[in-house]
Formats: sequence, structure tokens, C-alpha cells
Amino acid sequence: MSILIRNITAVNADGIQQNTDIYIEKDRIAEIAAGISQTAERVIDGTGLVAFPGFLDLHCHLRDPGLTYKEDIRSGTRAAAAGGYTAVCCMPNTKPVIDCAEVIRYVLRQAEEAGYAEVLPVAAITRGMGGNELTDFPALLRAGAAAFSDDGLPVAKDEVILAAMRQAKGCRALLMLHEEDLKNRGQGIVHDGQNAKKARLAGIPRAIEEDMTARDIAFAEQVGIPIHICHVSTAGSVQLVRDAKKRGVRVTCETGPHYYSITDAEILDGNPNAKVNPPLREETDREAVCRGLADGTIDAIATDHAPHSEEEKAMGIAKAPFGMIGFETAFPLTVTHLFESGIIGLTDIARLLSKRPHEILGRNGGELKKNTAADIVICDMNEKFVYNKDSVVSKARNSPFLGMELKGRVCYTIRKGNFTYDRQAD
Ligand code: DOR
Ligand code: ZN
Repeated sequence: MSILIRNITAVNADGIQQNTDIYIEKDRIAEIAAGISQTAERVIDGTGLVAFPGFLDLHCHLRDPGLTYKEDIRSGTRAAAAGGYTAVCCMPNTKPVIDCAEVIRYVLRQAEEAGYAEVLPVAAITRGMGGNELTDFPALLRAGAAAFSDDGLPVAKDEVILAAMRQAKGCRALLMLHEEDLKNRGQGIVHDGQNAKKARLAGIPRAIEEDMTARDIAFAEQVGIPIHICHVSTAGSVQLVRDAKKRGVRVTCETGPHYYSITDAEILDGNPNAKVNPPLREETDREAVCRGLADGTIDAIATDHAPHSEEEKAMGIAKAPFGMIGFETAFPLTVTHLFESGIIGLTDIARLLSKRPHEILGRNGGELKKNTAADIVICDMNEKFVYNKDSVVSKARNSPFLGMELKGRVCYTIRKGNFTYDRQAD
């Protein structure tokens, strides 16, 4: 198939081309230039629209195998495409855990069949995510693991994370770390602050995240490997990463849209969809996350898309599982809370949602460039809409953003020259 996108603003992390055309032939970008005279099977008028390189999500939960009542690879990647994603990293806390080649192959096969997005499986660091015995990193890499994480759980024991770092160093594997001092979290379910007290809910102090972040940065420095810190949520964590980068430690990190869009005020009415781990923090943390995104301390925006069923979330905030869906709101929240307020610009969106995620994984891509894969998301920066249940593509509906007016919308997602999302056709 050939596609001609006319008169669009093409945005890369390193620059913007106004009023340009993009010509796609088969699975490649054949040309990006003003006034392309080719004819194409499909022509899109890009006037007033913006094209970014397809987004890559470093952190999501597709719940497949084994937890497919929440989400599956097809429904999850379809939702990802609707959010502008052409590739997603899925975390291994499935049933069974992604800790052997066979499960990796299953995930890759399902993703290939569905065709909505490339799925990059993140394999477990420890067998069954049990925190004790390391998985076989080289075998998992050969099977197609993109990185390693026990996400959902920390690797609590010092000797185990150190052994994991040494194994990672030997085979150049990337560790993506969920930082949480679980033994001290107790019964905490929301951020430990004034709002937790008002709502009479048990709190999770910032130190639960920061102590483990500090430990792993120190260990990575000692072992001499790059690490990636998942879902940074506190001002202190942002500062730890900033200081480490200044010292030359090869640490990267991500945050989720919820940490720069809302605060723990959302839990005051006991909304179980606002229960997430790490928890929504305070305004001072939100502002620190925004500054970290603007100055490059935070490398990437990752959704932590964590679907749960209505029944599970209906158990109430105390009992419901942690997590919120995120694919379809990541871009609008970024426009609404970071772009509209002038915290970041267009090129930063390409950097945070596409270019840096590709670099962190050591992958090519994340650029709109002649002769590269045609992975493109076309967006309207000005369209406002109310995010409602009926529009949700994911199997799950657990979002604290339902009912909110957002600005910025994905219109089309193109992956390898095929439309994986087309709002017009929906
Ligand atoms: O809120 C969360 N949900 N945090 C995690 O670390 C895991 C995730 C999940 O799998 O539901
Ligand atoms: Zn996590």
C-alpha cells in the first residue's frame, strides 16, 4: 500500500519540518519533503495536524498469558495503537510469569497474529518473580526478551540484585527496576500524606520508593552497568536520578502520565481507579516530575498500563488491586498537562514518547526519516474531547481520567505502512 500525507507538521526529537509531505511506500517512509508529486492509494490531508514517530511504551501489562479476563495481547495492542503506539514493552507478571523462552515465544506469536503493535517482551529477573533464583538471561535474550524486570515486585535481596547486575553485564541486558521497599510498605495503599489521613487510608511513604532507588543506583555504579528505573513518582527519586547522571552513572528512568497530571487528591473520594503503585503523590512531587521531564532527567514517558476488571476494582480502594489503564490517555494527558502549560514543546514529545525509549532499548527507530520504517502517529494538538467509558478500546475501564476533558488526540496510527488505528473509520 502507498500513503501520501500532505501538508503536515513532522516532528522529530531534533527538529520540526512545517508544511511537509510524507510519502509511504509499502512498509517504509520513501520521502519526506514539501510538494511530493506522487500519487498514492490513500491520501491524508495533514493540514493542522502533527506527525510524530510512532510511540514506544517502555512499560505496560498485557496480562497474557493467564490473566486475559483483564486484557489480552490483541485487545491490549489494539488499545496501544489507538494511543499512538507502534511498539510496547510488556511486563512479565503474567500467569505463568514470562521467565522462559516458551512464554516469550507465545507472546511474540500472539502479537504477530494481532498485528496492532510490535510487542517487546520484558522477561523476569528471577524465576517466577520469586526474588531468589535468577532466570537464564542469555537464553531469554535469544528467544527475544527486550529487557529484564520483576515489575510489580522489587528484587528485594541485595545479593540477588547484585548477581542480576553481574549477569546483565555479561550479556549486555538491560534491567528495568520496580523500586519498592516492600517489607516496609505494610498495608499502605495510597501516598502517605494529608490526604491519606483525611481519607483514613494507610499511607505509603516516599522513602519506600527512594531507598530502593538509591540502593540500585549505588549498585549499578559499583557493578558498572546501565539500569532503567521504572515509574518515578517522587521529587526525591527525580533528584536521585539527576545526581547520579551528573556523576556519570548510566541510569535512565521513566515516569507515567498520572504522576504529572494528577495528585493524591484523587483518592479523597475513595476512587479505586486512583489506586496505583507507586501511588499518586503531592503537588510538589508532580511539579518535580514536570521539571525532570523538561530538563531530561526523566528520559521517557511510559504508561504502566495496568488493566484490571470492573469486579476487581469494585472491591473498593482498600482491597482493589493497584493499577490504571494508560495507553489511550498518555498522549492527551501529555498535551493537556505538559505541552499546553509550556513545560515541554513538540520536539520533547517526540523525545519522551519515542526517541529516548528506542535509545534506552538500543533499538533503531523513533525518527521520521527517509528510508526508515513507516511507524507514524498523526495527531490533532488542538482537539478537545471528554474521555468516556464508551470510547475505551482496552478490555478494561479502570482509569481515573474518565469524565475529564482532555486536549490532544490521536487521529491515525501507521505501523510499517499499515493503519493500525484510524479514528475516521471507527
Ligand atoms: O499499579 C501497579 N500495577 N503497579 C505495579 O507495579 C504493577 C501493576 C500491575 O501489574 O497491576
Ligand atoms: Zn512497577
